[in-house]
Amino acid sequence: MVARRILRAGHPVLRQVAAPVIDPTDPAIAALVQDMRDSLAEVGGIGLAAPQIGVSLRVVIYRVPAERVSSLPGDREVPMTVMINPVLTPVAPPGPIGAEACLSVPGLVGMVARSPHLRLQYQTLAGEVVSTEAVGYHARVVQHECDHLDGVLYIDKLADPTSLVFRDELTLVEFEAARAATGATA
Ligand code: NI
Repeated sequence: MVARRILRAGHPVLRQVAAPVIDPTDPAIAALVQDMRDSLAEVGGIGLAAPQIGVSLRVVIYRVPAERVSSLPGDREVPMTVMINPVLTPVAPPGPIGAEACLSVPGLVGMVARSPHLRLQYQTLAGEVVSTEAVGYHARVVQHECDHLDGVLYIDKLADPTSLVFRDELTLVEFEAARAATGATA
């Protein structure tokens, strides 16, 4: 398969509501997911939604590395996971503000309030339905990625417009402080 170019804000596909996947076991979906994995691996990100490589379907891949797990009970390391047709149900309203970045808005970082606890249901490539929960950083990543399926970017949801800055203008201390607040790149 092949790493594809990751689209940046301004490309119309990133603003479309993506269509549901009718058959998650269709080999074309497995091929799409492999391209998403290859595209994400090339740039070293945390997660990717299909619209970011120009495919307007409800497919997301993401992982939670051990070093990003927050201290909230229930937050956890997650291996690379494929979610097809995900449905999020917040258990807690948006509250905690944390730093986010996005492969479709390269170089920038901004602060966003997200729900710290979600119920999550999705289909696998085998067509199985998975029901689970996401807490803390895990919940943030999932919300960021699933927003892409509705044509929403994190820059639409900034807690404070002045929080949007170029990452390389932050001092290391400022960056670490922002990242400690939970920090995502997806
Ligand atoms: Ni993103």
